[in-house]
Amino acid sequence: MSVHKQAKRITTQVLAEMKANGERIAMLTAYDYSMATIVDLAGVDIILVGDSASNVMAGHETTLPITLDQMIYHASSVVRAAKRALVVVDMPFGTYQGNSKEALKSAIRIMKESGGHAVKLEGGHEIRESVERILSAGIPVMGHLGLTPQSIYKFGTYTVRAKEEMEAEQLRKDAKLLDEIGCFAVVFEKIPAGLAGEISKSIHCPTIGIGAGGACDGQVLVLHDMLGITQEFSPRFLRRYGNMGEQMLSSIDQYVKDVRSRDFPNQDEQY
Ligand code: KIV
Repeated sequence: MSVHKQAKRITTQVLAEMKANGERIAMLTAYDYSMATIVDLAGVDIILVGDSASNVMAGHETTLPITLDQMIYHASSVVRAAKRALVVVDMPFGTYQGNSKEALKSAIRIMKESGGHAVKLEGGHEIRESVERILSAGIPVMGHLGLTPQSIYKFGTYTVRAKEEMEAEQLRKDAKLLDEIGCFAVVFEKIPAGLAGEISKSIHCPTIGIGAGGACDGQVLVLHDMLGITQEFSPRFLRRYGNMGEQMLSSIDQYVKDVRSRDFPNQDEQY
């Protein structure tokens, strides 16, 4: 495990340099202090306080219900843990679409109240005004294209996006737009690897893929999925690096047995 006692803080500038030098960027989600401490210590470059908190932390079916206050609560816990990583905070559904003044107000609340370093918004040309207004306040913005879970009721499915040429062409245009107006990075979720690779070469800012192949400038996974804490979600792109769900279950099962059998606490575990 890497230790980053005096590690240099990752900034949007460092990420741009990493792309220029061909160094891959590692991003993971985290939503609380304890997990974020480990993620940061392991050397992850970007911690995303994703609105996937709505699913993995709160048990909702979609990312839509999570509120701005709840995202700020999660983000402030992560910020207290992150000594090296750049902390990016998802703007929740309904806080930036359709009203750029509202978008800026929401982004300012996230930055002021959580101490996060940047925000992430889902969408392309349709949220251009919001992205530009947030950027004009000096707040770094990460884009998110392809499968955008906040629009699940429009898509109707979590299947791969931009397989058809018309949608692929729109995605190319949106990525170019977000890059040109000043986003410091763009997430590509569940799009064909060839398309993600082609755009990654053609735009300046780093691209971070999830189910978008190995040619993106970086990768992101949801922490609870890659650790095997969540069990039921297993798309093709997900590599499991642990089976923590089973380990936790058997540890807790043992604890319950020990309490019931009066094995815990023993003589050494009491005063
Ligand atoms: O909310 C989230 O975790 C995300 C990632 C899947 C990119 O947006």
